[in-house]
Amino acid sequence: MRSLRLPIPLLGLAALLALPGLAAAAQASPPPASPPSQSVLGFVGSDVCATCHTDVAEHLTATPHGKGKFASLSAHGCETCHGPGSAHVNNPDDPALRPRIDRLSPREQTAVCQKCHTGGQQFFWHGSVHETRGLSCESCHSIHAFKSEKAQLKAASTVEACLSCHKDVRADMWKNSHHPIREGKISCTDCHNPHGTQTRSLIKAASVNEQCYTCHAEKRGPFLWEHAPVRESCLNCHTPHGSNHQKLQKTATPYLCQQCHSNTRHPGTLYDATTLADQSRASNRIFNRACLDCHAAVHGSNNPSTPYLGH
Ligand code: HEC
Ligand code: HEC
Ligand code: HEC
Ligand code: HEC
Ligand code: HEC
Ligand code: HEC
Ligand code: HEC
Ligand code: HEC
Ligand code: HEC
Ligand code: HEC
Repeated sequence: MRSLRLPIPLLGLAALLALPGLAAAAQASPPPASPPSQSVLGFVGSDVCATCHTDVAEHLTATPHGKGKFASLSAHGCETCHGPGSAHVNNPDDPALRPRIDRLSPREQTAVCQKCHTGGQQFFWHGSVHETRGLSCESCHSIHAFKSEKAQLKAASTVEACLSCHKDVRADMWKNSHHPIREGKISCTDCHNPHGTQTRSLIKAASVNEQCYTCHAEKRGPFLWEHAPVRESCLNCHTPHGSNHQKLQKTATPYLCQQCHSNTRHPGTLYDATTLADQSRASNRIFNRACLDCHAAVHGSNNPSTPYLGH
């Protein structure tokens, strides 16, 4: 049985400071000069909660929040997250006194978790699009009732977690050309960090191109002849999730190329001045993949004999 007069263990606080990323939490709430006793704060201890919530308590011991590292960071077991429970314990039948976390605002819910999780992947949570749109950690994670063992997600998998809100991306995944997400080869979190990043669109790398190079390294170059739009952004021509044009192209060739190249030395458009003026001349209009037949090295070329992206 725990003594009710024990001060908040300073040992736990020391461990908190020793962990990278966890220090901010400690700085945010400096310990009071003379720590009040547990009874004053109304803490009863996990053992008391477990007398009634046996299943929840037992289940918790099999998860990271019921193990040693959590215990060393938290002074109050269940009540680290739920807050002091004495009022509820004394009057369990009063619904208003039950320490339900889902009653808190998203920001307050998140603050419960960010007593510990402020570093690592969660470092850029504040200001992230998910935070500003009112999501909390609880939008994706569950402490007691998770479907995915990995990262304690409410959904059965990472991809399902994301698609529960992002239905348009699910539609993209079923298009003819798509990144092999539904085949299980890559996941949303290979490119995005849902907790926040410094790059727009929650992209993990420093830029979209850097993200693409992590898997398509051969597109990084350097090339003897660069193609300017490739260096600028892969998304000048590609869409990231899915497309009904081949190779994740935003639109079909030759139109893709013609968005930028209409005044080439050879005609790039379907009906050019020469063919319209003189019907007897063989049409030199260009169909389908035609641009790529001659300019195959569209991402950049190392061919010393032509600067025109040919092989
Ligand atoms: C004397 C028995 C008892 C003790 C001790 C007790 N609870 Fe409860 N608790 C209940 C009852 C009864 C409910 C009503 C809902 C239910 O049946 O689960 C409840 C409900 C809750 C709920 C809300 C669940 C919901 O679905 O509405 C939370 C959260 C909770 N308790 C947390 C705790 C925590 C944390 C502790 C320890 C600080 C604790 N309880 C200690 C009996 C107890
Ligand atoms: C790491 C934070 C954390 C700890 C530790 C924790 N809980 Fe919870 N608890 C939550 C959150 C968040 C919810 C809301 C639902 C969810 O995430 O599963 C919750 C929900 C509950 C509920 C409502 C019923 C339910 O399953 O949703 C009960 C009861 C409960 N907790 C009891 C306990 C008891 C008893 C302990 C200690 C043995 C405990 N909790 C430890 C965060 C925590
Ligand atoms: C008192 C500190 C503390 C609090 C508060 C806390 N956690 Fe944790 N959490 C931990 C520790 C410790 C681990 C285990 C990390 C490890 O083993 O490296 C962990 C692990 C996790 C994991 C990873 C699980 C896995 O299987 O990899 C998730 C997800 C998580 N916590 C979410 C939450 C959420 C959501 C909340 C708020 C409801 C929360 N945590 C509150 C300390 C805490
Ligand atoms: C939009 C959904 C979403 C939200 C919101 C979210 N997470 Fe996660 N979290 C995930 C996914 C998905 C993973 C698994 C990452 C992977 O697949 O690599 C994860 C992994 C984790 C992990 C384990 C990996 C690690 O970083 O050590 C922890 C801990 C965690 N989240 C804590 C939190 C906390 C704390 C919050 C709130 C500040 C939060 N998450 C908000 C989806 C989310
Ligand atoms: C609970 C709903 C919800 C879940 C679950 C969710 N998101 Fe979001 N997400 C949003 C909202 C709301 C926005 C704001 C933009 C919008 O309205 O589409 C957003 C925006 C985004 C953006 C665009 C960011 C920007 O800067 O424009 C990306 C990327 C994203 N989410 C990825 C993910 C990934 C990856 C997951 C799964 C780990 C996920 N989301 C899970 C609600 C969700
Ligand atoms: C191969 C990398 C990659 C994968 C895998 C990926 N995305 Fe994206 N996603 C991107 C890029 C790049 C953008 C940026 C688009 C922009 O900035 O115009 C983006 C944009 C988004 C956006 C915001 C714009 C929009 O299209 O609505 C959301 C939401 C999103 N992704 C969700 C997801 C979800 C959910 C998954 C998993 C099912 C996923 N992404 C998988 C690279 C990826
Ligand atoms: C996590 C690894 C990964 C990242 C990051 C990634 N890709 Fe891919 N990409 C793949 C895989 C795997 C395939 C399928 C290759 C195969 O089937 O041979 C693929 C295929 C493609 C294809 C061909 C699609 C088709 O229909 O054949 C294009 C185009 C492509 N990626 C562009 C991009 C762009 C643009 C980015 C950056 C926004 C990117 N990729 C980021 C892994 C990745
Ligand atoms: C100027 C338009 C354009 C830009 C910008 C562009 N691509 Fe492509 N990409 C194409 C076209 C067109 C194809 C189809 C080539 C074919 O069918 O022979 C393609 C095909 C691909 C393929 C699949 C075939 C292959 O060559 O492996 C991948 C992967 C790819 N691109 C990745 C990227 C990446 C990564 C970037 C950014 C660094 C990028 N692309 C930028 C036009 C572009
Ligand atoms: C987003 C605009 C854009 C798109 C789309 C685009 N290009 Fe380009 N392309 C450029 C720019 C800019 C240059 C550099 C022009 C310069 O240096 O004068 C260039 C250069 C070239 C060159 C070399 C010309 C030279 O003078 O060195 C060829 C060949 C070329 N593009 C072919 C293509 C083909 C084929 C496609 C379609 C797969 C395509 N481009 C799509 C913008 C684009
Ligand atoms: C039959 C082969 C062939 C086809 C098909 C072709 N090109 Fe060319 N392209 C060339 C050759 C050869 C040159 C070099 C021309 C020169 O030296 O006068 C060239 C030059 C270029 C240049 C750079 C010089 C300029 O005129 O600005 C661009 C840009 C270009 N092509 C774009 C395209 C586009 C876009 C398409 C598809 C609509 C296309 N090409 C289709 C062979 C081709």
